[in-house]
Amino acid sequence: MRLVPKPALVAASALTLFGLLAAPTTAVLAGDKSVVEEGKKLAFDRKKGNCLACHAIEGGDLPGNIGPPLVAMKARFPDKAKLHAQIYDARKSNPHTIMPPFGPHKILNDEEIDKIVEFIYTL
Ligand code: HEC
Repeated sequence: MRLVPKPALVAASALTLFGLLAAPTTAVLAGDKSVVEEGKKLAFDRKKGNCLACHAIEGGDLPGNIGPPLVAMKARFPDKAKLHAQIYDARKSNPHTIMPPFGPHKILNDEEIDKIVEFIYTL
C-alpha cells in the first residue's frame, strides 16, 4: 500500500512535529556540563535538594553529617537507575531513613533528580 500524503495529515504531522520541538526536552544528556551545573544548583539549593543539610559534598558550604559524604558515587552506584531510586525514595532501601522521599513528596521531579544524579556522578 502506498501512503499518499493528504493535506490534513500533512498539517497534523507538522503540528505534531512543532509540538515535539516546542516541548521542553526531558531527556538529560549524560555528562553535559550545563546539566551537571543545574544539578549542582538543585542539590545545594536549601529549598530544593538541600542535600548539604545531611551530606558533605565537595564544593558545598556548611555540610551536615547525618548522611554519608557523597563521594565516589560511580563506584558505589554503578547503576544510575539505583542512584535515581535512592534520591527518589530513600525509604525503599531503608524504611527508617530520615532522608526525605524527594519524589513522592514532590520536592524534586524526575528531571531534577536526573540532573542531580549527573552532578553527584562527577563526585
Ligand atoms: C535529612 C537528611 C538528608 C537529606 C536532606 C538528604 N539525605 Fe541522602 N541520606 C541521608 C542518610 C541518613 C543516608 C544514609 C542511608 C539511610 O539512612 O537511609 C543517606 C543516603 C544517601 C545516599 C546513599 C549513599 C550511599 O553511599 O549509600 C545517597 C546517594 C544520598 N543520600 C543522596 C542524597 C541527595 C542527592 C540528597 C539531596 C537531593 C540527599 N541525599 C538529601 C540523609 C539525607
